[in-house]
Amino acid sequence: MLRIENLKKFFGKNVILNKVNLKVNPSEIKVIMGLNGSGKSTFLKIIAGLIQPDEGQIFINDKDITKLDPEDRNIGYVPQHPALFPHLTVKENIYYSLKNKRGSKKLADQLVKMLDLEPYLEKKTDILSGGYKSRVSLARALVSQPEVILLDEPLSDLDLAIKEKLLEKFKEVLKFLNIPVIYVTHDPVEAQIIGDTFSVLIKGKIKEINSIEEAHQLMRKDL
Ligand SMILES: Nc1ncnc2c1ncn2[C@@H]1O[C@H](COP(=O)(O)OP(=O)(O)O)[C@@H](O)[C@H]1O
Ligand SMILES: [Mg+2]
Repeated sequence: MLRIENLKKFFGKNVILNKVNLKVNPSEIKVIMGLNGSGKSTFLKIIAGLIQPDEGQIFINDKDITKLDPEDRNIGYVPQHPALFPHLTVKENIYYSLKNKRGSKKLADQLVKMLDLEPYLEKKTDILSGGYKSRVSLARALVSQPEVILLDEPLSDLDLAIKEKLLEKFKEVLKFLNIPVIYVTHDPVEAQIIGDTFSVLIKGKIKEINSIEEAHQLMRKDL
């Protein structure tokens, strides 16, 4: 389980996260919505270890990881605009972390199959469509067998038709891993398809909600 307690983060005088608490269970896909600039990406970067919080703790299965370096956290992270290595092939991009003795070849092979990437393995990533780049980014974040996965608007650059098809695939893959998932999006359609549970980041707080409509109401109030 992923557990976040009393997380606080200032940028200068602005409080971006104000004592945020959150729990995500294994195989739960927790969607976090929120207006632009509400702090969603900052929140994920803190969990991934790329930004230090001012206060608070992060636990994975009751182990405090707050002070660990990103590479020691065992967290998969797909940033908002993931950069693949353009000079490497799809295969090299995905199997890269196996070279560093982390992850499992068997899992990598399974991910390639589930994401229909087999025909593209020898292609350079810069010739891929946006949708296929997203598939590679997801596979790459998962081959190291992370204990938690964080996705920051991974499909926001795609057309709606492609997005709907890909969301089902992403959901299948994420469920297969059976780990806690945080999925950040500002798109209600996306949230509805992929999410098990929903929350909104608003005025530095994360509020659990029961429906997408509730998210809209809260965000409208905040405008
Ligand atoms: N490194 C930084 N230094 C100062 N302010 C930042 C930094 N990163 C983000 N911010 C500010 O913090 C707020 C939250 O940003 P961000 O987490 O990117 O929001 P979101 O992902 O929800 O759009 C914004 O007002 C942004 O300008
Ligand atoms: Mg963001």
